Amino acid sequence: MRVSVDEAAGVVQRALASGIRLDKTVMFHDLGRVRARLDALTAAFPRGTLHAVAVKANPLVEVLKVVVAHGAGLEAASFEELELALAAGCPPERLVYDSPARTVAELRDALALGAWVNVDGPEELERIAVLGPPQGARIGLRVNPGVGAGSIAATSTVARGGRFGVSVEDVPALVARHPFVTGLHVHTGSQGVGLALIEAAVRVTAELARSLGLAWLDVGGGIPVRYTAADPEPPTYAAWGAMVADAAPGFALVTEAGRSVHAAAGFTVTRVESVKRVGDRTLAIVHVGADLFLRWVYASASWDHDLALLDADGRVRVGPGEPVDVAGPLCFAGDVPARGRTLPAPRAGDLLLVRDTGAYTLSMWSRHCSRALPPVWGVDGDAFVRLHAGETPADVVRFWSNRPAEE
Ligand SMILES: Cc1ncc(COP(=O)(O)O)c(C=O)c1O
Repeated sequence: MRVSVDEAAGVVQRALASGIRLDKTVMFHDLGRVRARLDALTAAFPRGTLHAVAVKANPLVEVLKVVVAHGAGLEAASFEELELALAAGCPPERLVYDSPARTVAELRDALALGAWVNVDGPEELERIAVLGPPQGARIGLRVNPGVGAGSIAATSTVARGGRFGVSVEDVPALVARHPFVTGLHVHTGSQGVGLALIEAAVRVTAELARSLGLAWLDVGGGIPVRYTAADPEPPTYAAWGAMVADAAPGFALVTEAGRSVHAAAGFTVTRVESVKRVGDRTLAIVHVGADLFLRWVYASASWDHDLALLDADGRVRVGPGEPVDVAGPLCFAGDVPARGRTLPAPRAGDLLLVRDTGAYTLSMWSRHCSRALPPVWGVDGDAFVRLHAGETPADVVRFWSNRPAEE
């Protein structure tokens, strides 16, 4: 399922042969793998389940188009993501809009569009009551089942006292007061959550929905992936689907997977610009760091990526390993995504391969030091399709410039 080092090296060699330049950083996304994941997801759940893939995992419009063309829907976490989903051609009936902070106008427009709308709290229900929910609107209430946290606190969402959704005990009165609520929504977290925790959350939420006579259940996303050998074997979609079938029989279902669709389909190649020896440290200085890998750099206790070194022609470097620190291009001391990794002695011009970068990388892009977004290429069988051109320095100047008043 993950793109192996040899496979990635083969893609890099073909990319170079076809004229794709690897001056700084290039990202690749294997579209065949994305489609295979969607097929596995579809096969794991009952026919008619809406699989709304989380836009935030990978918001490239060309990637969203692949997801939509393959029959899946999209989950938007902001009005802007909703616009991205529409730009990718997602039909409103396959569009799920979740957001803890949206304006009345955003809410009204999403309802008028016919998207599924999951509500995060009582005040928003009151706003919908005032707006008057359109006939047939699919409005869900997000529940916090309070069943515990996963191993990453910052991405765990079903512990008691968590910020998202409504506590189980408050749900019945809210649904009685707002009969336009037709379903419940629960999302356990993203990475660091096992199937047992997801199951506990789904069971509590399904029981509640059944007792309230609600017809549909959105079970969220959160299926973890394996970034390194230290990560546990992730649950399969088949296991997820079987668990939901057992825990929530009889409901129309929605899922919101993101990371498990995209992470393993992507990898990043960045040029070693120089090698520096500082005391007993060997630093391989590359062209991306905390700008692309926010979590890896700023929350390194929870996030990691496997690495390999290729030569300038994309061949896997072999040879005795030595401890290498990978230093990013940003001008702060902490921009060191990896420390003490055993790699062949790096040379300027080598290419560092960072694996499993298809989710929550570009979508978290940071403007620190104003470096340009890298280009992204889709790998579709033997063909390369451009998914994003990346930015030029002029694009960055435009980004930071005030727009002309008439725009
Ligand atoms: C409400 C909601 N749904 C779905 C997702 C996607 O989760 P994942 O990418 O881990 O599958 C997230 C991620 O944060 C989320 O907050």
